[in-house]
Amino acid sequence: MNAADQIFAMLKESSQSGAPLYLQLRKSIEDAVNRGLIGPGDALPSERDIASKADISRVTVRKAVQDLVKGGILVQRHGSGTFVAPRMERVEQSLSRLTSFTEDMARRGMAVRSAWLDRGLYAPSPDEMMVLGLSSSELVARVARLRIANDTPLAIERASLSASVLPDPEAIGSSLYAALETSGNRPVRAVQRISAANLGDSDARLLEVPPGIAGLHIERISYLASGKVIEFTRSIYRGDAYDFVAELRLSGPGEEGRP
Ligand code: GLP
Repeated sequence: MNAADQIFAMLKESSQSGAPLYLQLRKSIEDAVNRGLIGPGDALPSERDIASKADISRVTVRKAVQDLVKGGILVQRHGSGTFVAPRMERVEQSLSRLTSFTEDMARRGMAVRSAWLDRGLYAPSPDEMMVLGLSSSELVARVARLRIANDTPLAIERASLSASVLPDPEAIGSSLYAALETSGNRPVRAVQRISAANLGDSDARLLEVPPGIAGLHIERISYLASGKVIEFTRSIYRGDAYDFVAELRLSGPGEEGRP
């Protein structure tokens, strides 16, 4: 069966649902992709082919296709048509080890690079003052980067550290943790908070995904062995690229509720 036939077969399955036609078509295409009947990189049949095969108007087809392009399921290339979007190879990240982005990607054999979005010394924001324990007369070092692995942008990371720890943010090389290690300030413990976020326009543009798509907002506060907070990082990760994995154990007697 070719792609148009696959979509048409799915559409026949859903035609009893009573939903508007364009929604039925959108779901049929999505189901065909999810079931692997049409795969990443496959060309979608032309609007005209889908419309005539399914006996619906081209306007309806266009509306369904545009929705799927917005949702990142399909991509349109000018002049060559509409294709099933390439599937991101998801990165599985353990939640029990305190590692750096560079280490995580290197372990997977991925080539890491970063694009600088900002680095410098600033007057701290109220959040930064509170988390890093800074007074209003002290400065904060901000390091904002787009993190890229194997040429795919995966995350936007905005780290804040006391300027006393990182007096020259211009001087860090490709890894913040390597720079902290060199100065004896590598964190040994961190608390990470992960929440859902829909990507705003500028973040989506940097991460090369459609605006509004699901992402992960991750906040990491890391500590030195002395208990001093060393790093306050707020990041946006692509939702289609990351799985965070935590191992859970039944607590032993007397341990209930202990973090
Ligand atoms: C992870 C953490 C960040 C940390 C970064 C350091 O991505 N989420 O909080 O700042 O690693 O990575 P690197 O040493 O590669 O700069």
